[in-house]
Amino acid sequence: MTIEVSHIMEHSTTVNPLRAGLRMQRTPAPATVVIFGATGDLTHRKLVPALYNLQRERLLPPGFSVVGFARRDWSDAYFRQTLHEGAERYSRSEIQSSIWDDFAEGCSYIRAPFDDPAGYQALSRRLDDLDAQRGTGGNRLFYLATPPESYVEIVRQLGAAGLNRSPRGGWTRIIVEKPFGHDLASARALDIAIHEVFEEAQIYRIDHYLGKETVQNILVFRFANGIFEPLWNRRYVDHVQITVAERVGVEGRGGYYEGAGALRDMVQNHLLQLLALTAMEPPSSYRADTVRDEKVKVLRAIRPIAPEHVDQFTVRGQYAAGAEGGQTVAGYHAEPGVAGQSRTETYVALQCLIDSWRWAGVPFYLRTGKRLPKRVSEIAIQFRSVPLMIFEAGPLNDIDPNMLTIRIQPEEGITLRFNSKVPGQTTHIRPVTMDFRYNASFGVESPEAYERLLLDALLGDSTLFTRSDEVEASWSLITPVLHGWAGDARPLPRYEAGSWGPAEADAFIGRIGAKWRRL
Ligand code: BG6
Repeated sequence: MTIEVSHIMEHSTTVNPLRAGLRMQRTPAPATVVIFGATGDLTHRKLVPALYNLQRERLLPPGFSVVGFARRDWSDAYFRQTLHEGAERYSRSEIQSSIWDDFAEGCSYIRAPFDDPAGYQALSRRLDDLDAQRGTGGNRLFYLATPPESYVEIVRQLGAAGLNRSPRGGWTRIIVEKPFGHDLASARALDIAIHEVFEEAQIYRIDHYLGKETVQNILVFRFANGIFEPLWNRRYVDHVQITVAERVGVEGRGGYYEGAGALRDMVQNHLLQLLALTAMEPPSSYRADTVRDEKVKVLRAIRPIAPEHVDQFTVRGQYAAGAEGGQTVAGYHAEPGVAGQSRTETYVALQCLIDSWRWAGVPFYLRTGKRLPKRVSEIAIQFRSVPLMIFEAGPLNDIDPNMLTIRIQPEEGITLRFNSKVPGQTTHIRPVTMDFRYNASFGVESPEAYERLLLDALLGDSTLFTRSDEVEASWSLITPVLHGWAGDARPLPRYEAGSWGPAEADAFIGRIGAKWRRL
């Protein structure tokens, strides 16, 4: 984490080496990234644009290399060409040919089915050659960017080929993309299979939300400021709303989404991670295990939702045809790859209760959906109202409670809402806001989540990756909900594409006298 500490240092007589270290450039040792499923969308949309931007910012070491591994019959040249097209289209910065050429020189391709030992022998030879020719020193980062059905096979083959250990004193790590299992049992089985070949310290389970600048800032905001933490508990907080709204539908991923749904696709990972960062206790230091120890404690403290109580704690919905940006859009049922009678939820709202001294009695509401009116993600902390209204401005409930919102995306920032007197001879009260905007304050573009996470994995920093016990804790919460839903044959609530979800969701949060934030 790079923190600007010049002001702090002005006032200290000695330089704190820990603080000074935070400013140091972080460049990893020369290494090769091997991407399984390199012909796919993730590689072209996210991974290679991220690597290119790291290269542009001189954060990649000399000799850095990429080996694509996939089934399609592509040549090195064609692989590089498709990567270039992907980077041109999806990189946040323009592609400069001199930088690209340097990067592309280190990219090569191996064509093999994932279950063919010969492919892994070829990979092993390629990695040895790269060590010799480009000085990658036996350092390997494997990236599982394939459909999850192939994970176990690839991991076993890597083990069988001896590729789970590095030669020449290098390191070997593996990044596993989500979904990490589709329920508790499958997540455990996957974990066991990976642990048969790799040690936990080598495994990096990615949740790209943790790489977002604003998500990392949740901990800095909470633990590098003295004034908020005393309020961050049941005494002052009424409830919390965590929203991840998407405008897009399933974008041609109907086949995958049918087996997933919003709960698995978004809540099990991204939303529960946001909850954990918001609700966790202060860790004793900013280190991978201390941070993850605190996150897992919160996840385990969420009150389990029994299958027979899903109605009390959850609402789900599915989008029907509607309008978006003046255009008519199809309902979920009409998306390619979706069954006509599908009961997959594209919207979900949950109430989570955290049984801890800090949070007892404070509901955390999570909601996420596709085809909502806006792309917006935020965490809103609603504080309790004042105990007594002394102004003649009307009843207490006419006054908006204080609200702190952490805007994850877009228009990243933090806003504090409080009440103010409207200028004039009478005491009229109106809410106003104090705003912090990343753009206005820092004037630099934030790196993409994948840039940060790839760099961290190359550096061996797993703070922003999820540990096996966190994954298990979140699936333990989610799985009984899935069971509860599976046993419910009633029609799924529908919402029009371009609306804020099913009407049932309003009644759901209305039970505590609250309303969803209008975003
Ligand atoms: C992914 C989900 O993990 O996150 C997608 O599989 C979703 O369905 C995406 O669209 C949202 O990510 P972001 O960074 O665009 O908010």
